[in-house]
Amino acid sequence: MVKICCIGAGYVGGPTMAMIALKCPDIEVAVVDISVPRIAAWNSEVLPIFEPGLDEVVKACRSRNLFFSTDVEKHVSEAGIVFVSVNTPTKTRGLGAGKAADLTYWESAARMIADVSKSDKIVVEKSTVPVKTAEAIEKILSHNNKGVSFQILSNPEFLAEGTAMEDLKSPDRVLIGGRETPAGRKAVQALKAVYAHWVPEDRILTTNLWSAELSKLAANAFLAQRISSINAMSALCESTGADVAEVAYAIGKDSRIGSRFLNASVGFGGSCFQKDILNLVYICECNGLIDIANYWKQVVQINDYQKSRFVQRVVSSMFNTVSGKKIAVLGFAFKKDTGDTRETPAIDVCNGLLGDKALLSIYDPQVTEQQIRRDLSMNKFDWDHPQHLQPLNLSDSVNLVQVSKDAYEATKNAHGLCILTEWDEFRKLDYQKIYQQMQKPAFVFDGRNVANVVELRKIGFIVYSIGKPLDPWMRDLPAASSF
Ligand code: UDX
Ligand code: ADP
Repeated sequence: MVKICCIGAGYVGGPTMAMIALKCPDIEVAVVDISVPRIAAWNSEVLPIFEPGLDEVVKACRSRNLFFSTDVEKHVSEAGIVFVSVNTPTKTRGLGAGKAADLTYWESAARMIADVSKSDKIVVEKSTVPVKTAEAIEKILSHNNKGVSFQILSNPEFLAEGTAMEDLKSPDRVLIGGRETPAGRKAVQALKAVYAHWVPEDRILTTNLWSAELSKLAANAFLAQRISSINAMSALCESTGADVAEVAYAIGKDSRIGSRFLNASVGFGGSCFQKDILNLVYICECNGLIDIANYWKQVVQINDYQKSRFVQRVVSSMFNTVSGKKIAVLGFAFKKDTGDTRETPAIDVCNGLLGDKALLSIYDPQVTEQQIRRDLSMNKFDWDHPQHLQPLNLSDSVNLVQVSKDAYEATKNAHGLCILTEWDEFRKLDYQKIYQQMQKPAFVFDGRNVANVVELRKIGFIVYSIGKPLDPWMRDLPAASSF
């Protein structure tokens, strides 16, 4: 029986391995992690991550051909294929700080693989890593091997959170990069045979190692660029009276542009977009391509601009101060249908409002109070370390934060409400009831365009919705300073 081991039981490793176990009953899959609580959770009734459809798949396979364990070395040594899906944070100090990927966890995983391996292995890069990481890993493995040989493959993951199980079940494509040598090609075929259990052959693309590594960064950069482009348009729409949803619809009808990923928002979040673009910027700089680096840097800068523009709208609308005012924050996750808060725009927006001494009352259907408090106390980029290594910066402002059990509790006596995640339930709230229990004038700041602006204005709210024609209240107020 083929044995697969995945190092790192996170958002990528967990769901991906669960799908492989489901579709390949003839393969034994072990997911290993150094985090004891994380593995305990994978073995419990309440999985450590929320992902529609994941519970059912894990329950069907667990203890059959899917195992979760902290015995990293045993499972690695027994496996023929080892996926590596560990954290790759952005460096916060030293060479490349603020841009380059910190490969500490990758390197320690590679050294461990070399140390415990007694048979030949295929090592698969699953975490997003800078281009040419495979080469570095190859060197660590080949200089430390004990007579066994390793083939490195790059098999980037394209799943999006919230739809991970669907994306894994019917992927647009699976990409496998390998060395162009007989042994490299054989390894590519071995991994292809795993996916071929359920993915049509024409959707399994094989390339050289560097193309696969770069394609992952390029795909995320292109997607993020679309969002920054429509967000840039949203600011112009507000200044001119155009409606960004109409503009997005109109341009999306052009089949060369396409309609997806054109929703203006308070900004993109998630563990990949910013990190991958910063990585791309760093790689360009290292290769002397400064103009190209600056081009991609703008995608992140517009995203930061969008978040600070939103905060400025809130503060300037409310008589230029939110100090001591209760503001309800609906949604904290970086998008709907996930409990993930990594790089969520809500962190920057909340910190911006807290900087002005607002009293926040936050509600999210999936994010725990503990997580919200952690996120608001963390330094930039620290989220991407295993939890026990995340340094916390316990600031006083976290005392200004209350976490509520529902939207109605959060909005009671509030002066304003900000929608920061597009959860479906926020479309169906009883806004009449919410209006009655808020201070007047009552403000809604919709960072996801989920509320019905016309209805809300009829109720009496002063409404700001990203990229929509402005409420008369806001027309002459300052929109944003530049970043
Ligand atoms: C992304 C890529 O889509 C995926 O292929 C890759 O493997 C990992 O990174 P993910 O971060 O899970 O996936 O979520 P995604 O759906 O791409 O959304 C990212 C962010 O962009 C979210 O904050 C989302 O709210 C925002 N977004 C997305 C918009 O603001 N507007 C849009 O039109 C689409
Ligand atoms: P992703 O979103 O890429 O899956 P996560 O942060 O959710 O990233 O998961 C990465 C996991 O990798 C964490 O659970 C962390 O504990 C684990 N990890 C990091 N380094 C190692 C290592 N050397 N051995 C085993 N697990 C590791």
